Amino acid sequence: MANYEIRKLHKNTLASRNETNKYYLGDTSQNTTMEEWIKILNTLKMPLEEYDKSQILLEVLKKHHEIVIKIGDDNSIQREYQYARELYPIKGFVKFICYMTYPDKTKSNSAGSTMKIILMPYFPLGSIGLYKWRDDEIHIFQSCIKHAFLSHINAFTCGYLHGDFHPGNVLLKTTKHTTLDYDLDGIGQIVGVETHGIRPWMMDFENTREISRDNKSDIMDYYFDIQKFIILLQDHRFIQRIDKRTFIPISRIIHTNMTTYPNMEFIEQMMLAIDGISFISE
Ligand SMILES: Nc1ncnc2c1ncn2[C@@H]1O[C@H](COP(=O)(O)OP(=O)(O)O)[C@@H](O)[C@H]1O
Ligand SMILES: [Mg+2]
Repeated sequence: MANYEIRKLHKNTLASRNETNKYYLGDTSQNTTMEEWIKILNTLKMPLEEYDKSQILLEVLKKHHEIVIKIGDDNSIQREYQYARELYPIKGFVKFICYMTYPDKTKSNSAGSTMKIILMPYFPLGSIGLYKWRDDEIHIFQSCIKHAFLSHINAFTCGYLHGDFHPGNVLLKTTKHTTLDYDLDGIGQIVGVETHGIRPWMMDFENTREISRDNKSDIMDYYFDIQKFIILLQDHRFIQRIDKRTFIPISRIIHTNMTTYPNMEFIEQMMLAIDGISFISE
């Protein structure tokens, strides 16, 4: 028997507003037929009756079993996909599966308005912000913050600012790697950062843009992007038992460095300060 599931992924209210929607699509039985899928997709107002596109979707589901579809009707989806391709070599940035368009049948105008969709992998552990962290997982939490910070700075040294660094945009996945290295262009190499079996994956590149390391305001924007992430991590609506006091050193380091291009000393100070983060035990 076909065993599929569709549900809308709800935005967390603290994140910035955007016009896209995300749906979880799961087919654990792997025997939902193309006709059934077309019916299901119609309920999402996705009339993918064009044979080739439904075929692609079906093939993707056969391989991945569970995926997330991001749908929007403006060009931001296409731009996001383009940035994801450019960011592909950067450690810890989500790799999308594919990009498609289809005619928007819900609009009566004949101007040929199209819906744009991105298919991406589903991350069953969810995001750093919504994962239910247990007391004994503080070391995993700390290493995930370190890796997210290093991925973010890695993109920056390659000339890209993520632009929407928040705990709902950092997904989690188990990993067999016990450590990961980061080669930061123009700064140096950070070797063997522990993972504790879970690592973060950055997503949502709608606000991503190219930056120049010689531009002072781009450098400030880099620090603002981290500051936003650090401030939102302290919001109890994300992580209920976070000890805000343990974030004071991190905020201080960000403030002190605000006007200079990030260097090795800044990174080492941040890594040490992240080790100081704690939960308030129950
Ligand atoms: N590919 C995915 N796998 C698992 N969970 C996801 C995925 N994409 C998004 N989510 C979850 O759904 C929530 C909503 O995502 P999104 O539409 O990007 O809104 P926002 O980032 O504004 O919260 C995210 O906060 C995240 O927890
Ligand atoms: Mg998001």
